[in-house]
This record gives sequence, C-alpha cells and structure tokens, in this order.
Amino acid sequence: MNGLGGWGLRDGKAHRSMPTTADARELAARRLPNLIFDFIDGGAGYETTIALNQADLRAVRLMPRVLVDVQGEDLGTTFLGRRYNLPFGIAPMGMCDLAWPGTDRAFATEASQRGFPVCVSTASSTSMEEMLRLSDGHAWFQLYVTGSVETAMRFVDRAASAGYENLLLTVDVPKLGKRPRDLRNGFETPFRIKAPQFLDFAMHPRWSIGTLLAGTPRMANFGSGPNTRGYDRNAARAGADWPFLARLRDHWKGKLIIKGVLSPDDAVGIRDAGADAVYVSNHGGRQLDSAPSTISALAAIRAAVGPDYPLLFDGGARSGEDVVKALASGANFVLMGRPFLYAMAADGARGVSSLIDSLTSDVAIALAQVGLKRVIDINEAILASRPVGKSAGGRPILLRGSGAGS
Ligand SMILES: Cc1cc2nc3c(=O)[nH]c(=O)nc-3n(C[C@H](O)[C@H](O)[C@H](O)COP(=O)(O)O)c2cc1C
Repeated sequence: MNGLGGWGLRDGKAHRSMPTTADARELAARRLPNLIFDFIDGGAGYETTIALNQADLRAVRLMPRVLVDVQGEDLGTTFLGRRYNLPFGIAPMGMCDLAWPGTDRAFATEASQRGFPVCVSTASSTSMEEMLRLSDGHAWFQLYVTGSVETAMRFVDRAASAGYENLLLTVDVPKLGKRPRDLRNGFETPFRIKAPQFLDFAMHPRWSIGTLLAGTPRMANFGSGPNTRGYDRNAARAGADWPFLARLRDHWKGKLIIKGVLSPDDAVGIRDAGADAVYVSNHGGRQLDSAPSTISALAAIRAAVGPDYPLLFDGGARSGEDVVKALASGANFVLMGRPFLYAMAADGARGVSSLIDSLTSDVAIALAQVGLKRVIDINEAILASRPVGKSAGGRPILLRGSGAGS
C-alpha cells in the first residue's frame, strides 16, 4: 500500500491501490456480505486444495539471469492458432455478477481491450451471445452437462450459431463438491436474499444497495431461447462422460478444450479422443479437498501428452510471477479465477483494470529477471526448482530444474 493509506489518484479520481491480489481480496472481504465472499473465496472440505494450489506455486523458484539486454519485451503468445497480447486470461465463473453488478460485462470489455480471453460460464450472469459481442470475439464458452445431455447439446449449437471458436467442457463436477462455508451460510441458487442473511446484507450496504438497484443477478443463459428450463446448481453433471466426449468431438467443429484434468492417463485419453487442448485444473479447490495442486500435476501431464500438445492451466495463480512459473512448468496458457472477482468487488471495473495492469507488469518484471524478452521463450530452463507432484506434510518436494544454472 502507498503512503496515503492505500489510496491513490488516477484520472483525477481517488482509487484504492491494489498492488497485489491479496490487497484486492482483503478489500473484497470488507465490501462483500460474508455469504457472497465465502461463495467466491471458499472451496471443498477444509480447503486444503486451495491452500496447496497457492503454496506449491509459491514454492516454485525462478533462476535470475544477469547481463542480458531485455529491452523490447513481448508478452504475447499464441494459443490454439490465435494470438493473444498476454499469456493469461479469465477462467469461467458462474454467477460473477454476485461480486458486483456488471462483472461479466467488465470482464468481456477488458478481454476486448487487452486482447486476452475471457471464459463464459454456462451459469454466466450475462448471456453468452452478449459476452461474445462485448469481448469482440475474445470469449470462450464453457459447457456444463447439467440435467440432460440434449440440453447440453443445445448449448453447443447455440455456441456455434453465436460464433464461438473455443468450447471448454468442464468434467470435474460429476457432483457438486461439498463447500462447508456455503452450507453454513445457507448459500443457494437461484440467489435470493432471505431473512437469516439480512444482518449480513445490512452490514454491507454498498453491495446490498448496488445489487438491489441493479436487480438480483440471474442465470442469463437460461430461461430464454432454446434453453428454457432453469439452472439447477445441484443437478448431477455426470453426463459428461467418455461417450459424451466422443459425441461432442464429432458434433463441435470448433476447438475443443477439456477442463478439470489432473490425471496423466485422463489427459492422454482426452488427447486421443480428439480434443484440441487439456485444461489442467482442480476447479480452484472447490471440488475435492484431497486433490493434488495443479502446479504439481502439470509436469506429469506435460510428460504424458508430449511437448507440443496444448495445455491450459489454472489454480492458485495470484501474480504474474505465478503465470511465468506455470508457463515454465509446461502450460501454454494460464487462466485465473478468484483474483478478478476480488478486484471487481473491491473497486468495480476500475479494480479489474488495475489488477490486469499489475499482473501484466509482474509478468514483464519476471521475464526481465530470468533474462528473457519474449513470453514465448519461457521454458523449463528458467526454473531453479519445482514441485514434482508429491507433498510430504503439506510441503512440496522440490527438484532442481533441469536447465537451471546451465
Ligand atoms: C465463484 C466461482 C465460480 C466458478 N464457476 C465455474 C463455472 O461455472 N464453470 C467452471 O468450469 N469453473 C468454475 N469455477 C472454477 C474456475 O473456472 C477456475 O477453475 C478456478 O477459479 C481457478 O482457481 P483460482 O480461483 O485459484 O484461480 C468457478 C470458480 C469460482 C471461484
């Protein structure tokens, strides 16, 4: 925080300085009702997976290299045949507008302006068509198979008619994970403000009045068009099985990405089933409290699928340095979830914008420190040490990176 107690001036207006994701999270915790903050921040069980995602990423060390002219940086990269100006984007998140009215729209606008991807959840609070338009084609659609497989296939057709190029199928929610904070708080969808939460809302008037004026967020992809039935968050999502993947691959002509993979065997099976990319993710620790951290799973998946197969990564990345570490550990592109919601809750669209500035500058600094100019040149050689997929007593076992010091 700066000398003004965390306040700064931009464009003549006061704004909160949020140099790290932790600052945004702290502000979000103050501004959001507990029910909403916990829905965003929380996860499965004792939240061991959430903690491990971050701890294992922190434990990865980069090797600084000196005496290298690193002027003329290029943070852009190519993923699935498309060029992006940054190596990171926004992971799919349902009900984003619970963080603050207009969250989905702010994300789409940033995607368009910055030239990076925003993923649009099946449970988004702005329609998938509008998100693609606002993002100027930078949106990827995320599919859940909730309820019937036919409903899911109608979403696939809808994504094709809207003009989506990339479809992500999320496969790590065969059942909704047990999230104790939500159970304690009585969080449920469709979202309603009920009497037991009244005090919580009353103590967070900024959010409550803002949300009341904007109208309670809704599942914008449901209740209109061909998907007229409502969204049931607790419905089984187990329809996303291997036969469904084969059917989807056959039907969807665009790029297909499978999200929520941790096992190298599954990754190979998905690659062989014709998917264009595997998305290494444990749903941000929201599903299984005993899952491996995503950074520790990444190296084994990279080894299994081969050096050229596209891999996406998320889980616990909280800075541009984390992005660089994931890229060095085998990912081709990195997505983040919660940080963008924290920033929106903390300071609206301006908060999101300043978080992206900060992440971008982190990537540039880390790149310069490891002696590189271009994101596309990041590779394993910049790692000083990395987790190898096993943890003892919660701490990752570290190996020296193969190229470190060479
Ligand atoms: C509030 C919230 C809602 C989410 N909704 C979805 C969703 O609708 N579909 C999906 O595939 N993943 C969903 N996720 C998981 C994210 O896509 C992503 O995997 C996770 O947030 C990454 O971890 P991070 O938050 O540590 O970056 C959600 C995550 C959060 C925090």
